[in-house]
Amino acid sequence: MAVLDQLNSQQAIDLENKYGAHNYHPLPVVLSRGEGVYVWDVEGKQYYDFLSAYSAVNQGHCHPKIVGAMTSQAQTLTLTSRAFYNDMLGKYEKFACEYFGFDKLLPMNTGAEAVETALKLCRKWAYEVKGIEENEADIIVCENNFHGRTTTIISFSNDPVAREHFGPYTKGFIKIPYDNVGALEDVLKNNPNVAGFMAEPIQGEAGVYVPSEGYLTKAKDLCEKYNVLFIADEVQTGIARTGKLLAVDHENVKPDVLILGKALSGGAYPVSAVLANNNIMDVIKPGNHGSTFGGNPVAAAVAIAALEVIRDENLAENADKLGQLFRREMNKYIETSSIVNLVRGKGLLNAIVINDDEDSDTAWNICLALRDNGLLAKPTHGNIIRFAPPLVMTEEQLLDCVSIITKTLKQFED
Ligand SMILES: Cc1ncc(COP(=O)(O)O)c(C=O)c1O
Repeated sequence: MAVLDQLNSQQAIDLENKYGAHNYHPLPVVLSRGEGVYVWDVEGKQYYDFLSAYSAVNQGHCHPKIVGAMTSQAQTLTLTSRAFYNDMLGKYEKFACEYFGFDKLLPMNTGAEAVETALKLCRKWAYEVKGIEENEADIIVCENNFHGRTTTIISFSNDPVAREHFGPYTKGFIKIPYDNVGALEDVLKNNPNVAGFMAEPIQGEAGVYVPSEGYLTKAKDLCEKYNVLFIADEVQTGIARTGKLLAVDHENVKPDVLILGKALSGGAYPVSAVLANNNIMDVIKPGNHGSTFGGNPVAAAVAIAALEVIRDENLAENADKLGQLFRREMNKYIETSSIVNLVRGKGLLNAIVINDDEDSDTAWNICLALRDNGLLAKPTHGNIIRFAPPLVMTEEQLLDCVSIITKTLKQFED
């Protein structure tokens, strides 16, 4: 078999199993093409994508404007490193700063890198601006967080599978329950060394946990009161996914540090970023931080196009409208369902909770049946299935998906 011969699904799966590290447990479906809300497997079967690469493909698969920007830039200049200037980065930084309302942007590639960047920025700000004694800064994080996979980030995870046997862990993090302002204030009141509070405005990987209304506002107020940076990890919730440009916009909260990734490129290319105002970002000096690929001209061109698509196609408004429709329709189904307990979410970031034990394989089996019925989704934790289609979906397509989902769920009712 030649390296690039066309494979059938089983051959592709066998190759990954044999030659790839087993760090994922993919649903057995092998995709070879995508367009808008659809993907196709190597045998030509069409599916609705209801994961959007964990909310990276908000603009839909292979959006022509994003692909156009990427291919045109790829034929012109791909990488200079930051040893030299390139003629795209500044344009992108200006565009994104004005788009999100911050003074400066620090470009990275993946979500985890951007989270690491925000943590370093916060610590440096704490020592140089806030005046915390060297090596004493603490950052508050939330239980059941998901911020990525690096050694520092897993140090403050409480998912044993992500964490165990990867120690020793990075110090300087204090974990408090999510959606609990009392717990936040307790730590802030008693610990003058807190530099920042980092949270997901909706906990995505944990199972789409939407905090109580007012939580983000109160948390931000407390951060202001105690001179602590409010760091919003919007890698999954940002860029129109929840029905607003950012999930913090639902409460009109402006974070001190904003972390973006995933849909910043529409899924075409790894692009992430940290945004902050000058009083914070200016602590970063040459040599403090960087990345060979961060801020490369292809990433810059792709990100501008991806953000233009969000704005020009009103994707936040569409996510808001279709999200309400989705939850309304699912709630109608749940009234008489024995298999689903709950649907929750905002915009087009939603999840259903399956009425079975957390460690049962029901959610996985439902996802296999959904696949057979032409829709791809994946369990998050145990018995929770996340539903996050591309935001370019139409109402008609969404209703078609609801009927696939409810028809499939009915197969599992007793
Ligand atoms: C909230 C959040 N932060 C960070 C990350 C990490 O992003 P990446 O996988 O690009 O490193 C994710 C990924 O799912 C995420 O959901």
